Amino acid sequence: MGNEVTAFAPASVSNVSCGFDIMGFALEGAGDTVTARFSTRPGVTIGRITGCRSPLPPEASANTAGPPVIALLRECAPGTGLEIDIHKGIPVGGGIGSSAASAVAAVVAADALLGTNLPPEKLLALAIEGEKIASGAVHVDNLSPCLRGGFVLVRGYHPIDIVPISVPESLWCSVISPQVEIKTAHARKILPKVIPLEDVITQTGNAAGLIAGMFTADFPLISRSLRDVIAEPVRAHLIPGFARMKEAALAHGALGCGISGSGPSLFALASSPDEAGKIVIAMGNVLEEMGCLYATLVSRVGARGARVIS
Ligand code: HSE
Repeated sequence: MGNEVTAFAPASVSNVSCGFDIMGFALEGAGDTVTARFSTRPGVTIGRITGCRSPLPPEASANTAGPPVIALLRECAPGTGLEIDIHKGIPVGGGIGSSAASAVAAVVAADALLGTNLPPEKLLALAIEGEKIASGAVHVDNLSPCLRGGFVLVRGYHPIDIVPISVPESLWCSVISPQVEIKTAHARKILPKVIPLEDVITQTGNAAGLIAGMFTADFPLISRSLRDVIAEPVRAHLIPGFARMKEAALAHGALGCGISGSGPSLFALASSPDEAGKIVIAMGNVLEEMGCLYATLVSRVGARGARVIS
């Protein structure tokens, strides 16, 4: 590698309704790009930050891209100086893995530049240092699909145990991102601390059903399983037009629809690109009537995770 490496990391949908903190998948067509270059100043400095509406912290320790690289240098190249530029291709606080993408792209770029060639488990462990800043907690349901691509199940956290889940060929996803920001840390704070046993049974059954449905391409089973009785009931009110958008998605053939990550984005799954396109338009119409700005994305489950692009 020369004096500079650029890496791309994709957007992702996490939770997938019934898999709070334990399921996520990569998207195609949106992501963050980070360039890492050697610097004479030891430690990590952030150079340019582009592509975002509101300013992001310029201090390496406070920006989600910084701590993973700080930790990497501490462990593998103490005394080295790196400067990183961040280009945001994902709305910040939008619920499609913005903080994860910056953290992952930064650590992938730095790893390639330094030639450390760390295994994916180690890159994931480093990237967690960035995600912690955004949510105040350790969760890898965006980080893991962002890093490795595909649909993943986080079977466990102690230790982290990632299981890749195959998905039906014809599975598509519609994403709508209303232009409002939700802080993940806040969206986590309002979650119930104690969950009734009945809800645990419902959620566990749906999570198992969704995974089984993915492996067997059983669309009716996927559809029945896309329900969230834990996070959605307490987070939905944070999202303008949530109930109407969900209703519109289901009326236009969505297998299911829910909050992407901690929101405000919504995701809907569909069994063809045609349906996915109609669903996203129907959801967009709701926000247009409300005068709320938004962005949309229609994508397959992205097979590719983060990668060096130059
Ligand atoms: N699983 C996390 C949450 C994702 O819902 O809080 C945050 O992007």
